[in-house]
Amino acid sequence: MESTGSRKGAPYYHIEMAPGTHEHHPDIPDTPIWGYKGPNDDEGKYPGKTIEATQNQRLKVEFSNDPLPETHLLTDSVDTAVHGTKPEDYEDRYPDWVSQFEAFGGTFAFPEVRTVTHAHGVHVESASDGLPEQWQSPGGIEGPQFQKAVYDYPNRQSPATLWYHDHALGITRLNVYAGLAGFYLIRGRSDRRLGLPSGDQEIPLLFQDRMFHENGRYKYPAEFAPEFAGDVSVVNGKAWPTFVVQPRQYRFRLLNGSNGRFFDISLENENDGEVPTIYQIGTDLGFLQDVVPIGSGQDTTSLLLGPAERADVIVDFSEYAGDTLTVKNDAGFPFVSPDADNNDGGGLPELAQFRVADTDPETPVVDPTTLKLPGPETFREEATKTTRQMSLETTTLNGLDTHLLGEEGGRAGGEHWNDPVLTKPQIGTTEVWEITNNTPDSHPIHLHLVDFQVIGRGPDGTEPPEPTERGNKDTVNVYGGETVRIISRFGEFSGRYVWHCHILEHEDQEMMRPYEVIQGNS
Ligand code: C2O
Ligand code: CU
Repeated sequence: MESTGSRKGAPYYHIEMAPGTHEHHPDIPDTPIWGYKGPNDDEGKYPGKTIEATQNQRLKVEFSNDPLPETHLLTDSVDTAVHGTKPEDYEDRYPDWVSQFEAFGGTFAFPEVRTVTHAHGVHVESASDGLPEQWQSPGGIEGPQFQKAVYDYPNRQSPATLWYHDHALGITRLNVYAGLAGFYLIRGRSDRRLGLPSGDQEIPLLFQDRMFHENGRYKYPAEFAPEFAGDVSVVNGKAWPTFVVQPRQYRFRLLNGSNGRFFDISLENENDGEVPTIYQIGTDLGFLQDVVPIGSGQDTTSLLLGPAERADVIVDFSEYAGDTLTVKNDAGFPFVSPDADNNDGGGLPELAQFRVADTDPETPVVDPTTLKLPGPETFREEATKTTRQMSLETTTLNGLDTHLLGEEGGRAGGEHWNDPVLTKPQIGTTEVWEITNNTPDSHPIHLHLVDFQVIGRGPDGTEPPEPTERGNKDTVNVYGGETVRIISRFGEFSGRYVWHCHILEHEDQEMMRPYEVIQGNS
């Protein structure tokens, strides 16, 4: 993404949300999309261009959605039974604010199009977080928590693979599906010190799924359903793409940006059994403690990524000149756990292909087996001030299949979005959250603001974390029926944030809760 100047000494970006047209595949008619539009773009781009930040260097980003129409791209799928889509849903908490709407005697219709951009994984003040009620409409109406249009990202955190995407209450699933997602990379000295593959040997890969109508338009159910899976694999906006790589080493930044699908990734060689090992060096928010070799014959045979999870990996194609390697997916849909018997790819067993050019191989840039990773920031369990019992629940609300988050001190069966804030970590303290999944399926649970580490999982939360998640995380898969224990420090900013399931259909319909970092004792 190109910056548009500077403000108060910080690079300044003006990014608009705008309609665009996108080709996913030569055999699919062009698709109308909504995308992020930079200063040099003539329309919205999907995926959004990558924002490249530098550790400890502040960025200012102004997001606006003036170019969007007042009718949603997926207007037939806008279901007003979903929470947050009508003024009544805000009435309890914002009685004055709702009085501007017709239903309450005011003059304005409640806007169908609402967007707000969240940079997923950034440590940021609440006013710049892109919270679900900080939305704006292209008609000029501002959500009840809207505070500012120019966001402030200090980037005081480890180099990592982050992303930005839409987060508006009750309509995130449709906004992200329409195309509102892109990478946000934070680079730093540790990347350079490791001497990792860079330039055209460093490639971000955004894995998603879509469905299409014959005319190329996106297809999405008209009525709210708590689970959505597309039947077409789309990587960086291309349907079942073939990527011609050179016989050399690459660094890939993988992101699962799908609404609800999990991907369990491995490679398969069309010619013979041999495939390169995938060396994972990083997870959501930075480098792992130890490099994890992934592939057949290794302890870890595939790379599981739930919605919103990232992996930083190194793959060396130098011994595969002329070969074609398929990126396979074994995760079932809905995803239950790595050991479940429905792990057959969920109708999408192949995601993409690498075709390795038949040219002279190049010596690998680094030897991943001897890399000394800087490793994650660790949290001291002895320093824990508060341990909270949280849970994941199912219910029916407003006639919809709904998932809820249960919080300590709350009501039985789980909290609603509008219930009072119960979770108030004190700034500067360490907490352990024990998240028990009382539903049969896996949920990717995301906390805004903080890094956390997984310290236990399994039926009673005492099994070790997966090797692939032994780093700083912001999203963790809580498998069906298990308890996951995470530890985090609420360090820098106070104020309102959220935690939620990153299956967008769950998040949109109540599987999200505000929490508040407070000064002093709760
Ligand atoms: Cu990626 Cu609260 O979101
Ligand atoms: Cu969920």
